[in-house]
Amino acid sequence: MVTAVVEAIDLHRTYRTTTGTFRRRSLEVEAVRGVSFEIAEGELFGLLGPNGAGKTTTIKMLITLLLPTAGDARVLGYDVVHDAREVRKRIGYVFGGERGLYERLSGLDNLKYFAELYGLSGKRQRVRIDEVLELVGLKGRESERVEGYSRGMRQRLHIARGILHDPEVVFLDEPTIGVDPVGARSLRATIAALVEAGKTVLLTTHYMFEADSLCDRLAVIARGRIVAEGTPAALKEHVADSTVVEVEVFGVEEADVARLRHLPGVTSVSVEEREQAQLLTIQSPRGLELTRQLHGFLDGARIGRIAAREPTLEDAYVALVTEAGE
Ligand SMILES: Nc1ncnc2c1ncn2[C@@H]1O[C@H](COP(=O)(O)OP(=O)(O)OP(=O)(O)O)[C@@H](O)[C@H]1O
Ligand SMILES: [Mg+2]
Repeated sequence: MVTAVVEAIDLHRTYRTTTGTFRRRSLEVEAVRGVSFEIAEGELFGLLGPNGAGKTTTIKMLITLLLPTAGDARVLGYDVVHDAREVRKRIGYVFGGERGLYERLSGLDNLKYFAELYGLSGKRQRVRIDEVLELVGLKGRESERVEGYSRGMRQRLHIARGILHDPEVVFLDEPTIGVDPVGARSLRATIAALVEAGKTVLLTTHYMFEADSLCDRLAVIARGRIVAEGTPAALKEHVADSTVVEVEVFGVEEADVARLRHLPGVTSVSVEEREQAQLLTIQSPRGLELTRQLHGFLDGARIGRIAAREPTLEDAYVALVTEAGE
């Protein structure tokens, strides 16, 4: 029997905070409300969801930085609460946009410093640092000071730091945030290399094409609950029998968009502000003759290019989180 490397079983987490300065009121935020999933060995599992959905909170419970309010979680069979030390030894984690590198030291010296902290001995340290530099693609740049590194290089150095102790499981929370497209592409190659090296990876991202290209399986989380789970292809099936129409409009009124949303058969409408125009992305069941009606609905606004296309993972995601009430 193949046992799961990461198991989350009905995880809950409630934050208790206070608001107000004078009349302090206590406030409860149910950040995670019954999350369950399993990740198999060597799998790259993606956790997707809107801001505030509970992704980071879930990860923090799995990496033993936060105690669950209820539910259980195990990593490599170790309970994240009772065997936290055993879990910590075997995992690595990296948060996007993280600080904590020594700017005036070289990449290599940063890694040496962290290797000391992890208690890696001299010989082992040299070998391992060499391996991780190769893995994250920083070989040849390691003697340069970090202050001269691009954001993508810094992020790769963070990943190198996170895997120095050769963990079996790696948690990456938005690793490509703020990294330019070229840097993000090589960062994705680094993430793929981790999986090729036999690691099990949990990744969060807001970039759907990234999730689509990297992940074996995904879970979509909204308002603290998992609303869909499966391979990227299976999630796309969710919108397989719908059409996506992109309409370029100039000067569309909010009221028109609202009316469009309520048009029978329209599943969702999203508006993206472009330089001169707005781009409406309209999802509807296949076969609904939408384009002809559009002119009537958006009267007053000038309509530019109209194009129908196959739904993407992003469309599936938008449909799923819209249905979840986001
Ligand atoms: N330390 C905290 N104290 C109080 N509330 C918190 C705390 N951390 C997170 N929250 C709340 O818990 C909810 C889930 O937050 P979380 O950071 O897990 O979301 P997320 O899915 O990682 O979002 P994002 O995509 O923006 O990173 C949010 O409503 C957030 O405001
Ligand atoms: Mg987060």
